[in-house]
Formats: sequence, structure tokens, C-alpha cells
Amino acid sequence: MTGPGPQAPTGAPNPADDQKKESTRVTVLITGTRLYGEGDPVDVLIDGEVIAEIAPAGTLGRDEPGREVIEAAGTVLLPGLVDIHTHLREPGREDTETIDSGSAAAARGGYTAVFAMANTDPVADNAVVTDHVWHRGQEVGLVDVHPVGAVTKGLKGAELAEMGVMASSAGRVKVFSDDGHCVDDPLIMKRAMEYAKGLGVLIAQHAEEPRLTVGAVAHDGPNAARLGLAGWPRVAEESIVVRDALLARDIGTRVHICHASTAGTVELLRWAKSQGIDVTAEVTPHHLMLDDSRLETYDGVFRVNPPLREASDAVALRQALAEGIVDCVATDHAPHADQEKSCEFALARPGMLGLETAVSVIAETMVSSGLLDWRGVAKVMSERPAEIVGLADQGRPLEVGEPANLAVIDPDATWTVAGPELASVSDNTPFEGLELPGRVRATLLRGRPTSVDGEVRHR
Ligand code: DOR
Ligand code: ZN
Ligand code: ZN
Repeated sequence: MTGPGPQAPTGAPNPADDQKKESTRVTVLITGTRLYGEGDPVDVLIDGEVIAEIAPAGTLGRDEPGREVIEAAGTVLLPGLVDIHTHLREPGREDTETIDSGSAAAARGGYTAVFAMANTDPVADNAVVTDHVWHRGQEVGLVDVHPVGAVTKGLKGAELAEMGVMASSAGRVKVFSDDGHCVDDPLIMKRAMEYAKGLGVLIAQHAEEPRLTVGAVAHDGPNAARLGLAGWPRVAEESIVVRDALLARDIGTRVHICHASTAGTVELLRWAKSQGIDVTAEVTPHHLMLDDSRLETYDGVFRVNPPLREASDAVALRQALAEGIVDCVATDHAPHADQEKSCEFALARPGMLGLETAVSVIAETMVSSGLLDWRGVAKVMSERPAEIVGLADQGRPLEVGEPANLAVIDPDATWTVAGPELASVSDNTPFEGLELPGRVRATLLRGRPTSVDGEVRHR
């Protein structure tokens, strides 16, 4: 302590101090919500970082001093969502997104943990960058931002990055990916998977055989042919999916497939899982909801890698997610500047925003269609992703004593998506102007509300 100040108390503790501390303790009460959208409405009390009490609606005190009440009648309570695939663009492209703005988007979207891909500038292929991402995320404090490390130096696919150093440094890198690029050299991929096995980390593959996608900008089908766009065939994805599943089998390790986009990938995953191969996969909201008929207008906002496929692929992906053949949803949130999107389709940068619209797109494609109930949504957007990447404090059951990482969702509310109103720096949502069901009312990270009714609460 510096300078003169009040005398430090001596002797026995003053009970008045204790009482004061007690009375100003901040607690949060979520009233009238339904756990996983099931059963009778309950009140959920959060004290400190954990769920302290769950009781029938209307029975827990609302007027305690220091208590914030979140009126949540009609809502569904889920464990905080976990996005294992997002692009936050920091360092390097802070004009399109930052860890701060991306965290705000995540909080508004119901997320309590996200994994930030390594294709930043500089590339996150070393612990200086991955630790920066981790520390900056903690400083912002809206969502746990876990850095993804690159598999190869500079994402060049030639030389392995120092995975071990990244795995053991402050950011504790749990997932490695060259996303944006495929680790296409089978020998490099084999070595990476062997190292990953030893380190107990996950390799997430952007499955794209680059020799089959030279110049490709759209799904290789009748639409691309008619529109005169260079086609990206399904085999470019599927050939890598099967190769990596076989590598996982032979090495006796696991591999994760990013953004599965074809019906064929679903069948290969089904086969691999039936063989006991430890392969997991994610699907994006946009591949579940949209198809390549959107390309009609040549609007660059619909350019994405892998490309939007045919309606039959989207149907197969929805079914696969419901069945568990595709394990989870991941956004592949990919912000881009206006000038990178408002140009000739073939020149537009691939990628779409996803964090703030994900729950709504899943509500529309999976819940409204009857393919999943909200417990199923908890599984594919929180529990499974947390399990796949090995996060012990996320995707936990909604029970007393568990960490209060929570998402409060109004399943009946609808809203109209408008790019400029999203928290992201960029506006490139493919859902612009669309009315979607399911609004995130509140998100809590370790007991602290990070977003309430769209208002982001920085610490
Ligand atoms: O559409 C995409 N955008 N796919 C990727 O793999 C990379 C991402 C990006 O970084 O913009
Ligand atoms: Zn990718
Ligand atoms: Zn990506």
C-alpha cells in the first residue's frame, strides 16, 4: 500500500464489513426459463461463477440487493454455445474484425467460447501470435477466445509449425488447422497427425484437394455452368475426407473435418464411423440453409469456400447433423470488407459472417423442421464441440454447481437480419433482410452477463 490511508483494521474482523460484503454480492436471477426447452419453467440463480440454485418459476427472491434479474419467461436455457471454427482477423486485418468486435458478435450470438483460426497476418504459427490471441481475448472478457495454431509454417503446407510449443504456452493451443488452405501433402498430414496424437491435440482439416480447385469459385454443377463460373467439384472435398479418415485409422488417432459440404462427405463419414475411425466433422449454418441457386445474382456475399452446394446436399447435411454423423455446428464466421465483396463474383473473397445468426439459422433449419429439439441444439452447438476440442468447463449440464456459461434464447421471437446492425466490423451476412426465428436474449460467461437483449456488456 502506498501513501497515508485509513488505518488497517487490527484484531478481530468487523462483522459489519462482512455484512456489507455479503449485501453487495452480485447475483443473477434468470426467471421463468425452461432448461433445454423442456419441463416446467424454472428460476435459475447464478452466484459467482456457478449455478447456485434451480427452483420452480416465481419461487426465488427477485429483490435481493445486488441481484440482476433477467426476465426470461418463454425462453429456452442452453449451455453457452461453443464455436470451434471462427475467423477474428486479428492480428492483421483489424479493418474487417478484431478480437473485441468478434467477441461482441459471439456474445450476442450466445457463444461463451470460440476458436480463432490461424490464417491471420502474421499467421498464428508460433506461440507469440497464439498467446496474443488468448491474452487479448481474456482482456476483452466477453467470450473465451481459444487460438487455433497453424499446422504448417506460414500455412504453406511444407514444413510443420512448432505445435508442441504452442500447445504448452499460455494459450494452450488445443486445435491446429491450416484452414483457408488444405494440408494437401499426404506425408505432411501424416506427420502432423502423428505429432498431434503425441501432444493430445486435434488437427482440423480444410478438406480441399487444390489440384481440383484451381480457379474454382462455385459448386461444380448446372448452376455454375449456366452462370459461367469455374466449378469446384465435390471430389475435391471428398477425396481428402477419405484420405484423412484412412490416415487416422492407420495412425490410431483422430481427425476433424471442417465445414462438410457434400452428401458424399456424409456417406464417407458414415462409413468411417462405422469402421470405428475417430473422425469428427462440423457443418456451417450457411451450408445447412443455402444452396447454389443464390449465385443467380452474382452477389459476392454468396462466395464461400467450400462453395454453397445443391439443395440435395443441404438436405443430406441436415439429416446427418440430426443423426450425429456430422457431429456439430461451427460458423466459419469469415468477415470481409465491403470492397472485397462488392465486386465481380470471381474476385470476391470467400467467406460469410456467422456468429450472430447461427442460432437462428439452426432454429429455422433444424428446430422448425422437427429434425432437432432444443436439447439436440445444445448437443450440436455446445456439448459436442466442447468435447471435440477438449474444453472441460463448456458444454456442461444445466445443474447446480456447474459453471454458469449460459445462453438464454427466445425461440418464438423473430428478427430481421441487417448487416450494419451486427457487432462485427464487416457486414457480409448472406442472410441480409431475412426474417429468422430465435433471438438470443442473454449470454453469461462464468456467471457474468456478456450480452443482454443485444447490449454487449464489456467488463
Ligand atoms: O470461405 C472461407 N473463408 N473459407 C475458408 O476456408 C477461409 C475463410 C476465410 O478466412 O475468409
Ligand atoms: Zn476452411
Ligand atoms: Zn474457416
